Amino acid sequence: MVVSSTCRSGFSRDNYLKQRFAAKAAPTGFSAPVTQCSKNKSRNREVTMNRFEPWATPGVRGLQPYQPGKPIDELRREYGVSDIVKLASNENPLGPSLRVREVLAAEFAGLARYPDGNGFALKQALSERHRVDMAQITLGNGSSDVLEFVVRVFVQPGDEVLFSEHAFAMYPIVTQAASAQAVVAPAHDWGHDLEAMQALISERTRVIFIANPNNPTGTWLQGDELQTFIAAVPERVIVVVDEAYFEYASDPALGAAGYPDASRWLDRFPNLVVTRTFSKAYGLAGLRVGYSLSHPDMANLLNRIRPPFNVNSLALTAAEAALADEAHVQQAVHLNVEEMARVTDAVTEMGLEFIPSVGNFVSIDVGGDAASVYDALLHEGVIVRPVANYGMPRHLRVTLGLAAENERFLAALRKVLKK
Ligand SMILES: Cc1ncc(COP(=O)(O)O)c(C=O)c1O
Repeated sequence: MVVSSTCRSGFSRDNYLKQRFAAKAAPTGFSAPVTQCSKNKSRNREVTMNRFEPWATPGVRGLQPYQPGKPIDELRREYGVSDIVKLASNENPLGPSLRVREVLAAEFAGLARYPDGNGFALKQALSERHRVDMAQITLGNGSSDVLEFVVRVFVQPGDEVLFSEHAFAMYPIVTQAASAQAVVAPAHDWGHDLEAMQALISERTRVIFIANPNNPTGTWLQGDELQTFIAAVPERVIVVVDEAYFEYASDPALGAAGYPDASRWLDRFPNLVVTRTFSKAYGLAGLRVGYSLSHPDMANLLNRIRPPFNVNSLALTAAEAALADEAHVQQAVHLNVEEMARVTDAVTEMGLEFIPSVGNFVSIDVGGDAASVYDALLHEGVIVRPVANYGMPRHLRVTLGLAAENERFLAALRKVLKK
């Protein structure tokens, strides 16, 4: 720890200018490290300061970027491991359907042109699928794009955004980016506690995010309780029901009795936004395409800030083809049911606990600090997801892969935990 002698009462403009000047002259150039001071002398330490940070919005200054699953190539580079299994990002192990691959090949010739900025064909297919008007749809570069639109449209600095403990990591990120106040409701049995959430709604609440099912816990809410909750939310507060894993959770074989399709309630709740994605059961995570369904007035506002061409031509074409290939989705969902049983049975045999999940992933309590288990699994060529940043330091989230991939994970886990 380095305590700077020039540092008495925290950050000052003069100090900063001196440091910036010094940094400019330093041979390391653009990102030269400088010492920043904390108000608390004992906490002073050497940190790398971004020279533009003082001019960034307060939200961006405090922002921690989203941490994705470790890419396969990165593990290969860093650990020198080959034959890698990645079960870290809730992707579909079957990949995109054959039909998608065919239409994509045909699309290449048209890539010199801009995409249809309105996404007409995809919206038309979605409006038929969901029995909604095309004016109720907002397309996103992944559904996380739409989550951000909601905050940008409705939330000002100082407003409150409400979500649950252990909820999807993009909710705090988009909230912080808007310099808004995150209000985090305590979870109940790892899942959303709707009573606790309702008690936290204030005059300043603008948006409520609910992931159903939630990632990384896999917990879900039943239709009755969720409808009762939304009915009690004032209309000025936007409720986003994030259904990224809808296709998995709505399969009765996975056991989520009473799991709802919130898009059926759009007529009843004009303040409801339901988000869906092609990244999971449809196997198109790499193309980035998702959407929301809402009241047309809501979609009108969301579409005002949607960047032109936010969904590219390949993504539009692939999503339309994927939507039509119901058999591929069913195959993915059935595989998921089988593999959920394989993995949860095996970890139970190892004497470990897991959080019952209706997604394409499951969070397993490894019986102690999960960081070292995660690292040991990396050395075995298996990438899973540590979830300490979700307040779950004992858990690892494992995406359900193909049978052989899951067996690789289970064998590596047994070896690492000496089970
Ligand atoms: C709950 C939840 N919502 C939304 C997303 C965003 O997915 P995408 O932006 O790929 O549509 C994810 C991705 O992991 C998720 O887990």
